[in-house]
Amino acid sequence: MLAVEKKWSKKSSDQVLVVGVREDDNGLPEELEKGNKSMFAALNRQWTDGAIATKKARVTNMAVLDEDETLQQLIFVGLGTRSSLTLAGLKEAFGAAVKAVHEQKATKIGVLLDTFCDESVSLGEEVATQALSDAVLTASYRFDTYKTKKEEQRNYAYTIYAQNGESEAVRAGIHRGRAFGQGVNLARTLVNLPANDLPPVALAEEAEALAHRYEKISSEILDINELRSLGMHALLAVNRGSDHPAQMIILRYQGEETWENPLALVGKGITFDSGGYSIKPGHGMKTMKSDMGGAAAVLGAFEAIGQMQPQKNVIAIIPATENLINGSAMKPGDVLQTFDGQTIEVNNTDAEGRLILADGVAYARHLGADKIVDISTLTGACVVALGDVITGALSNNDALYEAFEKSAEEAGEPVWRFPTHPRYEEMVRSSDVADLNNSPGREAGTITAGLFIGAFIHETPWIHLDVAGTAFVERETPMGPKGGTGVMVRTLATLARQSNF
Ligand code: BES
Ligand code: ZN
Ligand code: ZN
Repeated sequence: MLAVEKKWSKKSSDQVLVVGVREDDNGLPEELEKGNKSMFAALNRQWTDGAIATKKARVTNMAVLDEDETLQQLIFVGLGTRSSLTLAGLKEAFGAAVKAVHEQKATKIGVLLDTFCDESVSLGEEVATQALSDAVLTASYRFDTYKTKKEEQRNYAYTIYAQNGESEAVRAGIHRGRAFGQGVNLARTLVNLPANDLPPVALAEEAEALAHRYEKISSEILDINELRSLGMHALLAVNRGSDHPAQMIILRYQGEETWENPLALVGKGITFDSGGYSIKPGHGMKTMKSDMGGAAAVLGAFEAIGQMQPQKNVIAIIPATENLINGSAMKPGDVLQTFDGQTIEVNNTDAEGRLILADGVAYARHLGADKIVDISTLTGACVVALGDVITGALSNNDALYEAFEKSAEEAGEPVWRFPTHPRYEEMVRSSDVADLNNSPGREAGTITAGLFIGAFIHETPWIHLDVAGTAFVERETPMGPKGGTGVMVRTLATLARQSNF
């Protein structure tokens, strides 16, 4: 729960107060003094003694007695120096604060919002409230579906103390932060669910349930018979080794008067990737329930879009299947027909993501998409190149990429655009028997994987995102726990809000 009030005053002493502090300030923020003079004096002594950490995202818990002998509890959150604070830094700071609240088992929390704002670096009340409302949801996220002993559920009551009270900016910030937080947490849970409980049909049901939550979102699921009659043989070939039928999941969000020219978000929905006959080694297979991280990001973005209601048409397209092995599974050397008409030689059955996405993006064009973003846990090469923090990107259109980059920056999610080269385009076409080759070798692996999908994009403005390193992490990060991260949910939802591209 998030409430908003104008002024903080000491009467709410059963509340833990969260205060932002800066490395280059001479003392504690004056908002504290206004609320409780005697406490401020005591705390200022602590400040002078250096007992309050001001470095970015460092937290100091403190309890002081004020002149009425009532105990005042505070959580100070370091913000670093004024000029170095960015939105990403602010999000980390709020994340650290929410974790501290959780550890202290506090349930009533006050936040002195203005101590976190700084208009001179574009961190006004709206942005700060958004970061806070997002962190309240995402920094306390736990995946405990399968734990028989669950952590006790607490109802947190947050009160934001803002100079101008419940202004339009604060209201908008709370709303958008909540939309992002719920979208991110949905994506995390979908990634964290094990493959035995999230086969393609279950993923499709999650998408249908999402559509039911929002008036402007509708869903359509293509079953295996429809996929056959449409000729989606790249998706069907990957599906052949699995007992679970493939699904093509389609969601439409209509934000404009008429349904035309949607922005398409196409997400890889491999609910488990064994590698197929080009089988993965044990350690590489262990986390492959996360191979639908692209699909999860698209669904998370739709959750946020459903709440934010941007004036843009957006379509989600998710080809979903397992990549397993049985007597009918595809084999190295097989040649596949695609929905688009081009043929593919399968050099490696573990390069299955680009196969299902070939049919996915071709179908997006067929449905009239005028811009396409595809997103997938596509290559191990991207994990090597960019690690678990930065998402890899490719694009055939500078203007669209610029709009995308701006969205990613606003969302606080780092991305890096890879270059392309005619030589790498040739590599994708280096098959003796078919038009395309799904695995032309290790060199420039992330780029050739992207360009393979690009061969089905033709002239449509396009962005390709590789989240192999960022969708699932094996360490706790400042942004959340181990496991699914919900990366790119905020960026994709922000892109859908932008009207100038
Ligand atoms: N799902 C994997 C990529 C991946 C690797 C995601 C590590 C997350 C973490 C993908 O289907 C794959 O196996 N790609 C191969 C392609 C290769 C055979 C051309 C790879 O990257 O090794
Ligand atoms: Zn694979
Ligand atoms: Zn895969």
